[in-house]
Amino acid sequence: MLAIGCDHGGFQLKEVIESYLDSRQIEYQDFGTDSEESVDYPPIAAKVAHSIADGKNERGILCCGTGIGMCIAANKVKGIRAAVVSDAYSTEMARRHNNSNCLCIGGRVLNAKDALELVQIYLDTPYEGGRHQRRLDEITAIENGEL
Ligand code: RB5
Repeated sequence: MLAIGCDHGGFQLKEVIESYLDSRQIEYQDFGTDSEESVDYPPIAAKVAHSIADGKNERGILCCGTGIGMCIAANKVKGIRAAVVSDAYSTEMARRHNNSNCLCIGGRVLNAKDALELVQIYLDTPYEGGRHQRRLDEITAIENGEL
């Protein structure tokens, strides 16, 4: 299952993404927020990120104004490889090379059509493994204070 969350800057985009997920019958857990009323993004990023790190959800999608704040916050949780993207190539590589488990998108950066293209790529692109796994293991070593 996917975890999804947003702040006020990403609320409209979250709505659009959820309609897209519904159309593909992809299940998700919505961690809010539920309106365009101003709200701090770190607690929402934390809920989504912990649900992934704890294995309750496989991957996540976070939306804020730029995607940056959500990405920074989510990456504070051990095991999270969040990527903020705004183009198709980076989105594909975030999956193929980085095995990203949390996509971050800016609702004030991309229009709905372009954002949904990235969501589609993110959902449908596999991780390549191989030489990339060594590098991800090195990131885990950083998290464990070993590097
Ligand atoms: C909120 O105004 C905005 O700062 C937030 O949505 C996000 O862009 C932070 O990175």
